[in-house]
Amino acid sequence: VSGELPGLDSLGDIDGCRIIVRADLNVPLAAGNVADDSRIRASIPTLRELRNRGASVVILSHLGRPGGRVEPELSLAPVAARLRELTSFPVSFVGDVAGEEARHAAFTLASGGVLVCENLRFEPAETTKDESQRAAFAAELALLGDAFVEDAFGAVHRRHASVYDLPARLPHAAGELVRREVSLLSRLTGDPGRPYTVVLGGAKVSDKLGVIESLLGRVDELLVGGGMCFTFLAAQEMEVGSSLLEADQIDACRRFLEDAKRRNVDLLLPTDVAVAADPGSPGEVVPVERIPQGLRGLDIGPVAARAFAERIGRAATVFWNGPMGVFEAPGFAAGTRTVAEAVAGVDARGGFSVVGGGDSAAALHAFGFPDDRFTHVSTGGGASLEFLEGRELPGLTALGY
Ligand code: 3PG
Repeated sequence: VSGELPGLDSLGDIDGCRIIVRADLNVPLAAGNVADDSRIRASIPTLRELRNRGASVVILSHLGRPGGRVEPELSLAPVAARLRELTSFPVSFVGDVAGEEARHAAFTLASGGVLVCENLRFEPAETTKDESQRAAFAAELALLGDAFVEDAFGAVHRRHASVYDLPARLPHAAGELVRREVSLLSRLTGDPGRPYTVVLGGAKVSDKLGVIESLLGRVDELLVGGGMCFTFLAAQEMEVGSSLLEADQIDACRRFLEDAKRRNVDLLLPTDVAVAADPGSPGEVVPVERIPQGLRGLDIGPVAARAFAERIGRAATVFWNGPMGVFEAPGFAAGTRTVAEAVAGVDARGGFSVVGGGDSAAALHAFGFPDDRFTHVSTGGGASLEFLEGRELPGLTALGY
């Protein structure tokens, strides 16, 4: 991470130009409808600004992981419809992304028009590791506009054609969302107010190895809940019953626990958990030392939740990624809700709070917390974690960052 991100001003006069915006409109769908439109809303400021400057806009995005095949249920058509409902923009949709039909729709786009192209990942060349295929695809995408704006913060960690190869082919800039995300997340990697507390949850510790390693050198406290805490508990020789366990990561967790001690970082694990055979069954709270065989830990227990909330309540800076349990099941939502309440209190008393990751944001929305109770709710899951880890993000590198 080095330079500055070029903003929309760097594109100069764009009146009458057609601008390609790479957005992250990868939203959850339910029965063909948009179930959470946060990412669509987050993409609007850049679109509005480009239109105010007299440009028309061609939006490129992925949705889900169709793996290079057309999967009609992952069409961006309902997303385009939602964008139309949320704005007064003349939004059109074309069921193609790099072919003749998409080019025709782009070339005939009226001034101020907003065109949403079909899911980039219906094309195998978008995500391939073969650089020449990606380059050829990016060259086709580049025909759709006069300049490129990167606003898909959630995808900047992907070395994909539209994220990494396309910007090199056109004048390029970062959109409002990407600039805001980078500026706020940079406060966590710079000199955060102390104590700096990070709360990690979610299913797998293997997804978070890099970020944990890097965070242990920066934070004062690391609170670990969610499915991933059981591998840490197993690293402390505990029996975790049928809870989620990544046996091949026990050694890594043991090293993290030792590293935390050496660095004077409080790595807090739950002392109690709510267990059941499955999320549909009633839960029972047990101390972590006594998880019964055959039962799974599905949420942190009330004692742990209070301990986590107390730590969060004393922190000046908080980053939270990953739910504390299976919050979608009413019987196992309490831990995540308690953490969400505590994190929501941080900004109110002048602290700095960032929530990252689709699942944590979904939990906030499910519990009815408005985003403005947090300093920032990131649109990036993996991207925000890789940013914190200090990894090179191809989508930002491509902009000269
Ligand atoms: C996300 O949901 O985190 C982004 O849209 C990236 O999606 P991906 O993990 O499928 O690349």
